[in-house]
Amino acid sequence: MCGIVGYAGQKNAQDILVDGLVRLEYRGYDSAGVAVIEDGTVSLARSVGKIAELRRQLAKGPLSGTTGIGHTRWATHGAPTWDNAHPHLDCQGKLALVHNGIIENHRLLREELVARGHIFHSETDSEVLVHLVEEQFRGDLAEAVRAAVRQAEGAFAIVAVHADVPEEIVGARLGSPLVAGVLPEAALLASDAPALLGHTRELCFLEDGDVIRLRPGSVELWGSDGKVKQVSFDTIPWDPLTAERGGYRHFMEKEIHEQPQAAADTLRDQLHSSEGLGFMEHELAELDQVVLLACGTSYHAGLVAEYLWEPLLGIPVRAEIASEFRYRCPYVGPKSLVVAISQSGETLDTLMAFREAKSRGARTVAVSNIVGSALVREADAALYTRAGLEIGVAASKTFTTQLVALLLLGLRLANARGRLSEEQLAAQLDELARAPGLISQALDTDKALQTLAQQYHGKSDCLYLARGLLYPLAMEGALKLKEISYIHAESYASGEMKHGPIALIDEKMPVVFLVSCCELYDKALGNMEEVRARRGDLIVLTDTDDPTVRKLSDNVIVLPKAPRPLVPIVYTVPLQLFAYHIARIRGTDVDQPRNLAKTVTVE
Ligand code: M6R
Repeated sequence: MCGIVGYAGQKNAQDILVDGLVRLEYRGYDSAGVAVIEDGTVSLARSVGKIAELRRQLAKGPLSGTTGIGHTRWATHGAPTWDNAHPHLDCQGKLALVHNGIIENHRLLREELVARGHIFHSETDSEVLVHLVEEQFRGDLAEAVRAAVRQAEGAFAIVAVHADVPEEIVGARLGSPLVAGVLPEAALLASDAPALLGHTRELCFLEDGDVIRLRPGSVELWGSDGKVKQVSFDTIPWDPLTAERGGYRHFMEKEIHEQPQAAADTLRDQLHSSEGLGFMEHELAELDQVVLLACGTSYHAGLVAEYLWEPLLGIPVRAEIASEFRYRCPYVGPKSLVVAISQSGETLDTLMAFREAKSRGARTVAVSNIVGSALVREADAALYTRAGLEIGVAASKTFTTQLVALLLLGLRLANARGRLSEEQLAAQLDELARAPGLISQALDTDKALQTLAQQYHGKSDCLYLARGLLYPLAMEGALKLKEISYIHAESYASGEMKHGPIALIDEKMPVVFLVSCCELYDKALGNMEEVRARRGDLIVLTDTDDPTVRKLSDNVIVLPKAPRPLVPIVYTVPLQLFAYHIARIRGTDVDQPRNLAKTVTVE
């Protein structure tokens, strides 16, 4: 979390830094700040709240100078106050530093630094870094950063500037992302590609332990062993215009409507890729289990894969919450296939769980939307979702493309394990090609869901119920509503309702029920009757316009019929639209909901 940027060039740094921060604001928005080198010293502007506030401040008192750094904060250590906002400065006001991550040994380091005479101005863990670099600085900023980060434990990405070397920015990465771009007239660093895409699409993704020094037209990189490393650049296909809202009210709305295209791009990419997974045939044949690791929405995609893959592959398949997996001594070994799912590819919980599995010898696949992300780099094989840039903090198109990518992966694994013939594979792939069209049809429910949102936006609670393959979608629907509208929402497997949650149901409780003719239809009808009998307010999403369902329900949304593996993709769309329109009507900050960050790089 937190977004960091650095710029050294010929233009006014302040404007470029603020523009970069705006593009990283999805990473955190508790406070923001920039520091620019001006006449042999560092000038600073910081503000509490969103970047708009920082902009207002800079309009009144602009900073000049062509080298600087910026930060947008998601608070961990210390409240979102002016003192705790980054950048942090050294005692002489010559060195400025921004940090994303957590310094786990900050208390001890702070005590030692205070004992050596350093004066601290914030409660943050980050401030120890600026004092450590200050102690080490003898004219070479990269050398000082390298020596300082050696003392720090935890996860971090930092960018520093020093008034004595005004043409350079220095960055370091351990566990939190950092990406660099170099042009003849400028050099840039940022947490994430969107901040740099307006300048260049040729980006260098730093690896853990890397330290980088950038000047306009020049780059030097050192690895964790301190030795000089070859710098390599990846080309990012995203168009900078993706970062504009177009005619939509929010990025999330735009991204929901981009799903047919995103699904088509993901399918095309995977189907036309000649690369296999890179595993030997016998390795796949001998697998004893598949474990899918992920968090949040990506975990829900993993759960869908669990339901679909287990019968397909004929071995145990389980989706695991990454933050739990690592600490419970899980059963995983050389015959396990571990699939880590993360749109950002940088979620620390997922990364750490993945490394735990890898250290036990598991074969690994990463499913990610980000080229060059940590997970992708560390996995034996990578599968990209081609959702393009997703700016709304709540995941939408990255989720549907994960579902598409996982469907494809499941089919390929089943084929490789001899459980699906070539003909069967071809037939399934033909079905899968219907995904973009079905998503478009599901988007036709938009008007109906707006009307529904008008009816329900005042509620304080909501239940989501479903069975089988749709149960993970009930979880996702509830998460979306919570995240962006702040309405309390819970999901249950509807067969589980009678074991407790049924006590919650009365005429005031909206119950979103997902039912499909492909999935335990009669059982689901029985569970709906149970809700009805307790006067619950039933909103049913269904793919059969069944009079029995209409009789039981207060509201019915009819979705297109899809082949069973595509049912979760179709049901995702109205769930997103329902949450979106409710949040919009309630006037919440849809794209940057309170307390959340797009990439969660703390455990
Ligand atoms: O980048 P990842 O897919 O690893 O992120 C995982 C979760 O943090 C993420 O899905 C989160 O739950 C979103 N806020 C969902 O909208």
